[in-house]
Amino acid sequence: MTIFTPKPTNNAGTSAPIEFPNYIQHGRLRAWIQSMVDLCKPDSVHFCDGSQEEYDQLCELLVEKGTFIRLNPEKRPNSFLARSQPSDVARVEDRTFVCTLNPKDSGPTNNWVNPREMHKTLDRLFDGCMRGRTMYVIPFSMGPLGSPISYCGVELSDSAYVATNMRIMTRMGKAVYDVLGDDQPFVPAVHSVGMPLEPGQEDVPWPCVANSEDKYIVHFPEERSIWSYGSGYGGNALLGKKCFALRIASNIAHDEGWLAEHMLIMGVESPEGEKTYLAAAFPSACGKTNFAMLVPPPAFEGWKVTTVGDDIAWIKVGSDGTLRAINPEAGFFGVAPGTNMKTNPNATLTIASNTIFTNVGLTDDGDVWWEGFTDTPPAHLIDWQGQDWTPAIAKETGRKAAHPNSRFTAPASQCPSIDSEWENPDGVPISAFVFGGRRSSVTPLVFQTFNWIYGVYFAATLGSEMTAAAAGKIGEVRRDPFAMLPFCGYHMASYFNHWLQFGRFIKNPPRIFIVNWFRKDDEGKFLWPGFGENMRVLKWIVDRARTKAAGEETRLGRVPSYNDIEWKGMEGFTKEDFDRVMSIDQDLWKQEILSHEELFIRLYDRLPKELLAVRELLLSSLWSRPEWEDRQE
Ligand code: OXD
Ligand code: MN
Repeated sequence: MTIFTPKPTNNAGTSAPIEFPNYIQHGRLRAWIQSMVDLCKPDSVHFCDGSQEEYDQLCELLVEKGTFIRLNPEKRPNSFLARSQPSDVARVEDRTFVCTLNPKDSGPTNNWVNPREMHKTLDRLFDGCMRGRTMYVIPFSMGPLGSPISYCGVELSDSAYVATNMRIMTRMGKAVYDVLGDDQPFVPAVHSVGMPLEPGQEDVPWPCVANSEDKYIVHFPEERSIWSYGSGYGGNALLGKKCFALRIASNIAHDEGWLAEHMLIMGVESPEGEKTYLAAAFPSACGKTNFAMLVPPPAFEGWKVTTVGDDIAWIKVGSDGTLRAINPEAGFFGVAPGTNMKTNPNATLTIASNTIFTNVGLTDDGDVWWEGFTDTPPAHLIDWQGQDWTPAIAKETGRKAAHPNSRFTAPASQCPSIDSEWENPDGVPISAFVFGGRRSSVTPLVFQTFNWIYGVYFAATLGSEMTAAAAGKIGEVRRDPFAMLPFCGYHMASYFNHWLQFGRFIKNPPRIFIVNWFRKDDEGKFLWPGFGENMRVLKWIVDRARTKAAGEETRLGRVPSYNDIEWKGMEGFTKEDFDRVMSIDQDLWKQEILSHEELFIRLYDRLPKELLAVRELLLSSLWSRPEWEDRQE
């Protein structure tokens, strides 16, 4: 439903009261929408109902405006391609702010500005920012509607692209107002592309601000509100995802005693029908979506891996004391390049229809293509910047058909591996947590940490390589605690403490595992094939979580021995190969543990003392001489 906003009626420039649909009975919500209309001054307000008809109309509107290109309906039904401005292609971490009254609450890993100052800046930027445009009122639930773990939000945006993407990524529509009633809490989130239109001014297909310094992705944890200005892309604009479900939700979770995590959730079902769920955190570019949708190798006949979510998990203690997790999202906003029928058949099938693609290549027959999609590239296509592209041009200029951060937005319900319980309002029971980074050396393929506190230590010091490391040396490692570095909405060390506290009150805490699929030999060759073969490691993890598998004690934690892993179908992988990918080099580990100091000093003012104690214990056990020396005496 669209209404046209009455023009200002007084000197203060405020509009006459807008007419609300009857189904919005929430006084505070009405007052907030009215105040934002007064500030942003849109030409009209569209109250999204979330219906298919509305979605189709918005897509049609975007086609007319040139933002969407309809793909060939025979090849990719009901799907669209959008091309962003070349300067608006990713999350802008340096323009992302967490504005707490006390800068120490935001912590050293977030950008901070005093909230009063930031509000002044935003009030100036948002004043009239939607002139000539429609404000979309987008009510959404993160998590199944009405679940005790879910939480609602309302995004006001001047982008129809955002409205369509939000319908795929969240439970969006009128039913949210039933959950909100007249006084239930919601997170207010306002977004503008920052490009008002003068009367008669023609729009562009992808409006946004020209300079990165003029973009603002701002969180006010104490107000539980989000303001985003200047970008139309991904996590900067689809405010339910990183802004709400991680940065604001991590604050709510801290205060209320639950977890909001950058984790996939997957189920592993044995041939006997025994189902085990786990949640796993990996920094960006470590194959999270592929792992969440893993296809077991043929030798694992009867085993099934199912997907609950690929990016975010909200986890609460259930009434029976187990941990229950939901995926707060309803869709996948996945990275396209590298996705294909071999690396991720489930994702490839998910995006067969009803999908919005952003910044990928457009083939001459109206389909999409990106690097790695097929072995042989098309002879010609239009690249993500709207230019002719051929393999020869690519070779000569290095130009990519698709931007490396190009994305697909697709409904989770279309995923062939979607778990039967993915919409269970009570969530799924979590038996194990897995953490992994990209490390070409140092970290073995898998180990189970001794207990929850050791697990928190290894998750807190999780690292991923920025550049390929020389074999046998520690590479350029970025510490990405819990894979939450860009997403934790408060002081990272207080977050570590929250995890420690949380673990103290769970009867049977999930086991914690560290994995590394990316270890290399001296020639730079991967020591582990990864992808579907990760199922072998996953089976050991699941068996350990159910105390059904053996684990040998090492200085870091417990590991499988060669015979504890199922090798059917991979018999060529010898015990020597396994020893290599599992080896723990004491000297490298001493360096590794020492390198954690840098992170700990950064977080010193709130670092839990337990982590320093674990560090000492690890150093102490690593200090003993290696076994082979003992044997030589
Ligand atoms: C994402 C990310 O887009 O983690 O999911 O960067
Ligand atoms: Mn992510």
